[in-house]
Amino acid sequence: MSHPDHYLLAGVMGWPVMHSRSPKLHNYWLARHGLIGAYVPLAIKEAGLEKALRALPALGFAGCNLTIPHKEQAMKIVDHLDPVAKRIGAMNCVIVGADGSLSGTNNDGFGYIASIREAKPDWRADAGPVTVLGAGGAARAVLVSLIDEGAKDIRLTNRTAARADDLAKEFGGPIKTIAWNDRHDALQGAAMVINTTSQGMVGQPDLDLKLDLLPQTALVSDIVYIPLETPLLSAARQRGNTTVNGLGMLLHQARPAFNAWFGVMPEVTSELRKMIEATI
Ligand code: ATR
Repeated sequence: MSHPDHYLLAGVMGWPVMHSRSPKLHNYWLARHGLIGAYVPLAIKEAGLEKALRALPALGFAGCNLTIPHKEQAMKIVDHLDPVAKRIGAMNCVIVGADGSLSGTNNDGFGYIASIREAKPDWRADAGPVTVLGAGGAARAVLVSLIDEGAKDIRLTNRTAARADDLAKEFGGPIKTIAWNDRHDALQGAAMVINTTSQGMVGQPDLDLKLDLLPQTALVSDIVYIPLETPLLSAARQRGNTTVNGLGMLLHQARPAFNAWFGVMPEVTSELRKMIEATI
């Protein structure tokens, strides 16, 4: 029997990192595609990031994902940074080039849109107003992806108004900001509403949002995935809205990374989804 000339390697760098579901996800795909290799958690503190990233080529890693606290700092270290990561202002994926150089990208926006299309294949960003709650790091990835998908009317509201105003200035175009106190009214006539805040996550209070004015045809998306059904999604489902939880974004952002490292674009199967859901 012939042996491959090297063991495929990738991983996720972060601190803490042991809670990450990415190893389960990528190791599932490695096995499914008959690839000999492993995706491992790399427990790296902030001070060790540069050395750890520079060690990847020598160790034969195809690349890695990045999680807290490395997503911004890594942008200053890599040799090439793609425009999407620059606009999002964070990277979540490193690809080692044939020459040992490091390229940074961010697949969160891709993952977000793919998760929406999985739930609603005919979804369009320009189908009507999109109300986005929150203006943190997650909101940046969602907003960039909505703009790139052709959204024409984005209503952005955040507890701290200045952060929403800054994002509207930076990304321009279709974003209009709305005062946090007026967020309930910002659902009137919306085709979609997206929670990018931490509210509704396990251990956090529920998102305080009255859905009365939201059309029943609107899609309701929450990027939180612990719990899988947040109080927002539960309330939306009970009144007849289609809902999308945040797990799809996590699953789908991993696909282009796997493809860049190992040359196969993997699928999010129902078996994979169930396997990850069982860990939540
Ligand atoms: P992430 O990178 O995960 O988006 P973040 O940058 O800390 O994290 O952003 C968290 C988001 O949740 C922000 O929009 C935050 O609002 P502020 O900008 O006002 O902080 C929002 N958020 C956190 N706690 C909140 C609360 N109690 N009520 C409303 N929004 C809240």
